Amino acid sequence: MSHLLEVAGLSKSFPAKRNLLGRVTERSLVTNDVSFTVDRGETLGIVGESGAGKSTIGRQILRLIEPDAGEIRFDGQDVRKLRGKELLAFRRRAQMIFQDPFSSLDPHMTIRNAVGEPLAIHFGLSGAERDRRVVEILERVGMRADQLDKYPREFSGGQLQRIAIARALTLDPDFIVCDEPVAALDVSIQAQVLNLLLDLQAERGLSYVFISHDLSLVRFLAHRVMVMYDGEVVETGPTEELFENPQHAYTKSLLSAVPDPRARRRNLTQPPLEA
Ligand SMILES: Nc1ncnc2c1ncn2[C@@H]1O[C@H](COP(=O)(O)OP(=O)(O)OP(=O)(O)O)[C@@H](O)[C@H]1O
Ligand SMILES: [Mg+2]
Repeated sequence: MSHLLEVAGLSKSFPAKRNLLGRVTERSLVTNDVSFTVDRGETLGIVGESGAGKSTIGRQILRLIEPDAGEIRFDGQDVRKLRGKELLAFRRRAQMIFQDPFSSLDPHMTIRNAVGEPLAIHFGLSGAERDRRVVEILERVGMRADQLDKYPREFSGGQLQRIAIARALTLDPDFIVCDEPVAALDVSIQAQVLNLLLDLQAERGLSYVFISHDLSLVRFLAHRVMVMYDGEVVETGPTEELFENPQHAYTKSLLSAVPDPRARRRNLTQPPLEA
């Protein structure tokens, strides 16, 4: 079967310097000829230091920013050419979860509306039917129905990330880009949210791109890992192979870097995590 997502030669640069007249005189290449695939039900981990271009890749594949060059195929369709109804359908099927759940939710919107909004936009659902779906999905992510009329500020970071996950799930997507989804959460809460992502993947056959600084998390969650350095892919491979036998000097240095003390405390090398 073909891959769910196929990315080839993805390149993007941003203006780096301008002259006195405001003309761009230098551009920095943020993703350079990046290629990878993601299969159905698979998690591709993307690792690499800050500024390596990880988030920029995520945003390009979801068409939140336009690549300069490259091909993105999702379920056989050329994502860059999608328009109208086909683009809307793609927006249903491919979602994103961000690092900071508070800024990804509108502070003036109740949870009922935040989670229900995609259903209104895409399916014109309202009233009782919309609420029924909202409650169902909120309960699935571990939230209670009596919290529907609260605002984001009334929740903890972990609860907000559950709500953000619920919002991403309402349209029953096939694919989610998770960009550092637990980096802003307390260590004690991280495992719960990661387990939720794993359970949802098992239930729904979801595919993830999982972007993280935390190698122990990637090792735990990802089936394959792609290592990025300065906008380029240095190495891609099945997770255990890559961790056990890294080929590239940069991957080796990344893996040998002093482990994050938080990661050690969580002891993620001994799966599974406790819910
Ligand atoms: N809209 C933009 N305009 C200009 N430069 C940008 C823009 N978006 C990203 N960049 C630059 O592109 C580079 C890669 O950014 P990106 O956010 O993709 O990195 P990252 O790997 O996700 O880093 P981090 O781990 O810190 O999140 C950075 O140098 C950043 O400053
Ligand atoms: Mg980033």
